[in-house]
Amino acid sequence: MGTPLTEHLCKVLVVGDLGVGKTSIIQRYVHKVYSQHYRATIGVDFALKVLKWGPETVVRLQLWDIAGQERFGNMTRLYYRDAVGAFIVFDVTRASTFEAVPRWKDDLDSKVSLHSGKPIPIILLANKCDQLLEGLGTDLPRLDHFCRDNGFSGWFETSAKDNLNIEEAASCLIKNMIANE
Ligand code: GTP
Ligand code: MG
Repeated sequence: MGTPLTEHLCKVLVVGDLGVGKTSIIQRYVHKVYSQHYRATIGVDFALKVLKWGPETVVRLQLWDIAGQERFGNMTRLYYRDAVGAFIVFDVTRASTFEAVPRWKDDLDSKVSLHSGKPIPIILLANKCDQLLEGLGTDLPRLDHFCRDNGFSGWFETSAKDNLNIEEAASCLIKNMIANE
């Protein structure tokens, strides 16, 4: 007889400004590919990642890749429905994309929460860290404070290009989501 499997189905949102690398992160994580060619997402795309999480547990991550331009649209309330976790992504080479992070956070917090009423766990991704010039990296510890002050569950420096920290960030979000169940 096989061991009974526990399955967790998690709807996860991936948001952040135009061109920060949301689609690239998902493509890297789910399909193990990377392209330097930029094609803006229109509306929303989907990807499914199935992971073994311990010997008897399977996690199915339904990733909602939401176009950066949707922050100015009125569809996000619909897209956010029933999500149990999120990544907010910014581009370390463009300050304006970091300045938009609180706006994405407010958009999420005002439109989605868990059935318990608690906010969904959100992880901040500082993407394109392969582009960070040496010396700029010393600024990143500030993100510890920023995340604590703004109610993020954590943050990671990521690179879709170099495949850095994407699996780690996903594991951190999964831990938080499972703890909420
Ligand atoms: P929208 O769909 O318009 O919201 O953009 P997006 O956030 O999905 O960005 P996308 O993944 O399409 O990436 C935008 C551009 O940044 C592409 O040219 C990618 O190749 C590039 N890019 C993404 N991730 C990285 C990274 O980690 N490092 C570098 N150097 N470039 C990256
Ligand atoms: Mg995209």
